Amino acid sequence: MSDAKAATNAHLAPYQARGLKGRIFSGVQPTGNLHLGNYLGAIRNFVALQDSYECIYCVVDLHAITVWQDPAELAKQTREIAAAYLAAGVDGSKHIVFNQSSVPAHAQLAWVFNCVARLGWLNRMTQFKEKAGKDRENVSTGLYAYPNLMAADILAYKATHVPVGEDQKQHLELTRDIAIKFNNDFGVPDFFPITEPLIFGEATRVMSLRDGTKKMSKSDPSDYSRIVLTDDADAIAQKIRKAKTDPLPMPDTVADAEKRPEADNLLGIYAALSDSSKEDIVSAFAGQQFSAFKSALTDLAVAKLGPMGAEMQRLMADPGHVDAVMRDGAARAHALAQPILDEVYRTVGFLRP
Ligand code: AMP
Ligand code: TRP
Repeated sequence: MSDAKAATNAHLAPYQARGLKGRIFSGVQPTGNLHLGNYLGAIRNFVALQDSYECIYCVVDLHAITVWQDPAELAKQTREIAAAYLAAGVDGSKHIVFNQSSVPAHAQLAWVFNCVARLGWLNRMTQFKEKAGKDRENVSTGLYAYPNLMAADILAYKATHVPVGEDQKQHLELTRDIAIKFNNDFGVPDFFPITEPLIFGEATRVMSLRDGTKKMSKSDPSDYSRIVLTDDADAIAQKIRKAKTDPLPMPDTVADAEKRPEADNLLGIYAALSDSSKEDIVSAFAGQQFSAFKSALTDLAVAKLGPMGAEMQRLMADPGHVDAVMRDGAARAHALAQPILDEVYRTVGFLRP
């Protein structure tokens, strides 16, 4: 067994003693346009995992300002993500729901990790390259250091598992590298756990409805590229009707579907929303016209997303409840993170005179 595995197991024992599998941390950025990909790749899994893990679900507002955010919008969107967690079914009294900037340990530990992570590691991050694009000289230094803050989010709680969509895999590998380097450099072999990613379901990477080769994203200029969680039934129907497809009938096999990105994406979405496998959905619609499939997908999406969108709107209309959940969550998160941060500071050699 490698050292990395041993470190993880040592961290699992206290949870296993309580009949749990570990401690989860995950987060979503409050940057607007929360979409079907965020739901199927992440938030839905947050809900599914809450019976078997101790869970900490964060609204990562510090990450959001790595690109410009209008301050009033940022505050509103922060509430909206917390409302989405609750509307999807996260239990904010049993688990922790809060916003990142309320707990200082995230930024404090991130600074230490800025000094642990190597420039070469960050240079390999594909999300930075995509987000910076050609304007590299002009992006914030926060965007570049973003993965170090993400590692701090997770390790400030010594979280053992992190549910995310496929696009975050590389950031979680960096988190493991930072944990290993910290543990080695300071001679504290078991201090940080070697965190496991949890990437599962039939829709770990939902693609744009306008282009099956591009990820569904909050920042795509086309509203028709994504279904947002507050879309009403008409908007959902219109977006699915206009979704790009190819001229052939529905594929007969999963292998055939996988050669046709738009068909594959819609089949994956259907499978995930109906809790079935892509195989089952391919065989149910094999050889049919897209129009029939799209109308079934619309009914399914409206049935699954409609009540959640309505609950989000209800919570947003009177934010007292969401704010109270976040306030309580922040106090509990702080109580967990502070002793870990204190130990990091002692380990690093920061004097407390
Ligand atoms: P973000 O919107 O970047 O804050 O992402 C929040 C969560 O949603 C992360 O776990 C992402 O991996 C996940 N996610 C974002 N976009 C997609 C997508 N198109 N398909 C699946 N998961 C996604
Ligand atoms: N970087 C993640 C995203 O864009 C959001 C995030 C920040 C996160 N900190 C995290 C996800 C910690 C999981 C764990 O999707």
